[in-house]
Parts: sequence; C-alpha cells; structure tokens
Amino acid sequence: MNKKKSFINQKKNYKGSIKNICCIGAGYVGGPTMAVIADKCNSIIVNVVDIDQNRINAWNDPDFQKIPIYETGLVSILKRTRGINLHFSTNIEEAISAADIIFISVNTPTKIKGLGAGKASNLSWIEKCARQIAKFSQNKTIVVEKSTVPVQTAEVIKTILNSSCPPNSSKRFSILSNPEFLAEGSAINDLEKPDRVLIGGDDQESIEVLSEIYKTWVPESKIIRTNIWSSELSKLIANAFLAQRISSINSISALCEATGANIKEVEKAIGSDRRIGNKFLKAGPGFGGSCFQKDILNLVYLCRHFDLEEVADYWEAVIRVNNYQKNRISKLIIQKLFGNLNNKKIGILGFAFKNGTNDTRESPAIQIVKDLLNEGAQINIHDPKVKPSDIEKELEVEQYKINIINKSNQNYDGTWVYKKTIKETIETAHAVVILTEWDEYTNLDWGELSKKMVKPSWLFDARSLINFDSLKEVEIFSWQVGNGQT
Ligand code: NAD
Ligand code: UGA
Repeated sequence: MNKKKSFINQKKNYKGSIKNICCIGAGYVGGPTMAVIADKCNSIIVNVVDIDQNRINAWNDPDFQKIPIYETGLVSILKRTRGINLHFSTNIEEAISAADIIFISVNTPTKIKGLGAGKASNLSWIEKCARQIAKFSQNKTIVVEKSTVPVQTAEVIKTILNSSCPPNSSKRFSILSNPEFLAEGSAINDLEKPDRVLIGGDDQESIEVLSEIYKTWVPESKIIRTNIWSSELSKLIANAFLAQRISSINSISALCEATGANIKEVEKAIGSDRRIGNKFLKAGPGFGGSCFQKDILNLVYLCRHFDLEEVADYWEAVIRVNNYQKNRISKLIIQKLFGNLNNKKIGILGFAFKNGTNDTRESPAIQIVKDLLNEGAQINIHDPKVKPSDIEKELEVEQYKINIINKSNQNYDGTWVYKKTIKETIETAHAVVILTEWDEYTNLDWGELSKKMVKPSWLFDARSLINFDSLKEVEIFSWQVGNGQT
C-alpha cells in the first residue's frame, strides 16, 4: 500500500487531494457508507478494515452470495467498486497509516457491567480505535466519528490522539463528528439521497475537506455544519424523536383496542395534519434495531449525569412503553390460548426487527418468542432473510433443544425450529403471529392456510398487515394491533 501524501500544502483543491480513506468497522454502517463513497468518488481509495476476519471474508466473497449485510442495491455497487477503489481487509495498521481521513464506524453498545451498566455507551471500541490511530497514522489526519456516541466523546478521542503527537512531529489530528442517519433496509437510498449530511467540528478547513467528498453527490444545501457537541447530540436526539413517535402510537394502539377505535384510522386522521406528518406512525410490536434503545438509554444516562431528572424520566418512558408493547402482545397470545401453551404449536412469521433487513438486533420477536418458549410452546419460525444461526444466537438456545439452561440461565419448557416456507410454519399450528412486515405475509390465502391449522385457531397480526375484511368467511379467530374491532 502506498504511503499517503499529506494534503496540508494542497489547500486549493481538496477534492483532488484526498486520495485515501480508511474506515474502521465493516458493519451495517461502515460497509454500505464506504461502498457509496467509493462509488461516487472514483479517484479515492477506500479501505474498510475490521478485526473480524469472518466478516471481512464475507465482504470479499467472490460470488457476492455471502455479503454480510442485506441491502437493496448494495451488491451492484460492490460489483462496480470492490477490488478497484474499495477494499475490505484486516490490515488495520497499513490502512490507518495510508489514510488522509479515517472514519470510526465501530459498535458502541450499551455497557453491560461497571459504572453506567445498562445505560451508558460502552466506548471501549472507540477508545481502541483512537489508540490505533494515534499509533499508526502519519502527518495530518482527519478523524471522523461516524459511530453514534455520547456528547463529548470527541474530547476523549482528541486527548488520546494529541497525546501521541510529540513536539515537532508532523503528526496532527483534526476531529469531526459526522453521524450516520441511514436506516437499515433503505441504507443505499438513504446514503445516495440523504435528507441531510451533518458535520460538526471546530476546524473549518477539515469540515470543508469532508464536505467536498459529500458534495460529489449531495447538494450543498443539505450539508449542515455545526459545532461538534451539537452534531453528536443531534444524532441521539433524532433517534430519540423517532422512537418517541413509535411509543406514542403504540400506547394509543392499546387504547384503540380497549375502546373499539382502529389505530389505522387514527394514524390517517392525525397524520394528515402536516404539522404531525404521516411518517413513523405505524403501530407494531415495539421498535427494535441496534440503536433506538441504546441511544435513548444513553440520552437518559446523560441527563441524569447533568442532574436533569425530569428530562431523563421523560425519555425513559419511551423505553418503558416499548417494553410494555412487547409484553402485552405475549400476554395476550397466552391468554387467548386459554393461558396454556404447553405443547401447542405457534408459527412465527418474521424475526427481523423490520422488513428489508436480515438484522435481528433488539428485534421485538426475541422477547415475544422467549415469553412463548417459557410457557412451553413449540415454535416454528420463518423469516425470508434471517439465518437460523442468528435466531439461535438471539434466543440463546439451539433448535429442537428441550429444557436446557441457556446463557441467561433461563430454562425454557418449549422448543423452536426454523422453517423454510410459510406453509410449513403454519401447518398444524394452533396460532400464527406476524411479527415482521415482510411483503410475502400480506396477501396470504388464510382460507386455505387455516384449514391446515388446529382448531380453534388464532391469527395474531402485530404489524397490521392483514385486511380483516378478507377473514370474514375464514374459520379463524383474529387479533390485530390497535384494531378495536378484532
Ligand atoms: P456493527 O456491529 O455492524 O459493526 C461494527 C464493526 O466494527 C464490527 O464488525 C466490529 O468487528 C468492528 N470493530 C470493532 N472494534 C474494532 C476495531 N478496534 N478495529 C476494527 N474493527 C472493529 O455496528 P453498526 O451497526 O455498523 O454500527 C456502528 C455505529 O454506527 C454504532 O455506533 C451505531 O450506533 C451507529 N449507527 C448504526 C446504524 C445502523 O443502522 N446499524 C445507523 C446509524 C448509526
Ligand atoms: C433508525 C433510524 O431510522 C435511522 O435514521 C438511524 O440512523 C438508525 O436507527 C440508527 O441510528 O441505527 P433503523 O433502526 O434501521 O433506523 O430502522 P427504522 O426504520 O427506524 O425502524 C426502527 C424500528 O421501529 C423497527 O423495529 C420498525 O419496525 C419500528 N417502526 C418504525 C415502527 O414500529 N413503526 C414505524 O412507523 C416505524
């Protein structure tokens, strides 16, 4: 790999001077984001590095069959760029030393032990990256926080980096915050046509260097420049506001069921008010995904740190309602099946946290299936994109295993098995639960499918996918989230 050329003396045309980008972390953010940058900026070499050799091997899969992340349009971009100006490797040291700009896109999960456990972000991966950058980088390097981090993390990075620059050294760092707003399932579209690109920092020159890269395909009017703390905080707040809308509508779904109202009608009525808007108003089994819960917990932790108890309580309620929604759905299933799931077969349609992705992190399906396993159910699980090994990891118990103590010390009475087809999932089941809004679950022939189920059979539609008028002639009991008429 060629050593980088410093751009310190090439201020006139930054666009031409940025030759080499390194991204640390080849995950859901690092992989697609760098693929789009490489695709739009052909003259820049983009190295995506990771400590996980298996993940890198998957990104380098010659047939593009094992690409670790499922996103529409991603493979076409990889076909145009991989091995040309986009490279995936574990050569972290070389990639850092060759880079003009380094994006940190590593995971920032919630701490599971120690101070702030269960709330604060675990920044050990960020800190490790900062130390690696401090050790291997050369000349002036722009370090970009792409990961979602608590406010003032840039200060930690800056302190570590600056402590590696002895006087008279040519090594210098500029730290920027450039949070990512992509949503899984629409990542490529979100990256190619972002609502905004947010860049926070105090070094105007570096902000402009990074802006130039985005300006290759993003209109200048969509690039927002702020101070670094506003940028870090805005990312947490954007997720908190989105999650808050989901908890709001889910809380009202319970009220609709109690009163005979229909959440879809309420959604339409309130969403037509332009001030409210119609996005993010779909009731469901609760929000999942790797970030909403972790980012709100982090926000709550920050507020408590600054003695803002009322503010912390307000945001904590968003998580409480989300847990309530998952719990009330499993309770309802158990109650409708006469309070007893022992040896009853339940078909689960969908395990991903939403459609369009193979990601299962924090999927509401995890808690709901665990609750049903606890009650002794035999569960068939179908998902068009999720691998059985990922379901196994999330449930912490292998397929077919009975009564084993899993990692959480939970002794399930039930068992689960992955089914390849919808038909196999539903056959001989007492109940079916729709947990992910995959298109293939929308227009199923319940007249035919219900004939294969054990009577009295139940359909629990936690995503409001089914047109309930179509079930009028079908011999099946049904419940739909927020539908007070079912
Ligand atoms: P991820 O777990 O999919 O990927 C992170 C990768 O970083 C892993 O492959 C891991 O092996 C690697 N890694 C960790 N430490 C490393 C090190 N020192 N050197 C090299 N590689 C290292 O995570 P993600 O979903 O891509 O999220 C990354 C960050 O982006 C998080 O802060 C998240 O909150 C934020 N974010 C995620 C999304 C999303 O949709 N997933 C969207 C916006 C922002
Ligand atoms: C979310 C944000 O939308 C992104 O902007 C952000 O970058 C990302 O988190 C992140 O920081 O990780 P993502 O988690 O991929 O993206 O997916 P969303 O589309 O936001 O959905 C999150 C959850 O909310 C899913 O479980 C989804 O089913 C649920 N949801 C969403 C609803 O229940 N109802 C809705 O109306 C919308």
